[in-house]
Amino acid sequence: MISKLEKFKILGDHRGQLIALEAQREIPFEMKRVFYIYGTQEGVPRGNHAHYKTKQFLIAVSGSCKVTLDNGMKKETFVLDQPNIGLLQDAMIWGTMHDFSDDCVLLVLADQYYDHDDYIRDYTQFINELAS
Ligand code: TYD
Repeated sequence: MISKLEKFKILGDHRGQLIALEAQREIPFEMKRVFYIYGTQEGVPRGNHAHYKTKQFLIAVSGSCKVTLDNGMKKETFVLDQPNIGLLQDAMIWGTMHDFSDDCVLLVLADQYYDHDDYIRDYTQFINELAS
């Protein structure tokens, strides 16, 4: 199994819902960066890369999308369609986000600051790096 969907506790009451995520608890690392993807175009995937070091945790806080993870040997596709569901994309896992709903806001928590040199954008290079 490349990864699995994690389900968070919803702290809801008559006023609405709340989800709390803490480092090393619900999120399996210390977070250094948050970004979110929204306003995506129909049929246009994002990601299509791996990271040497960076771990990411993905949550569709609104709407839905799919995430395909690939460890070089097999691929698994996960559906993120609830704000209380998250998915770890570990380092050296190729990830693609796709099939975004119009209202999707995909929140990504990362354990590293943004570093252009941490990206592997070429799939052949990714496979070569796994073998080396
Ligand atoms: P990009 O990596 O192309 O997005 P995707 O994850 O969908 O492949 O990022 C788009 C732009 O945003 C690119 O110019 C890099 C920049 N960026 C940052 O400056 N900081 C970040 O944390 C991220 C994820 C991207």
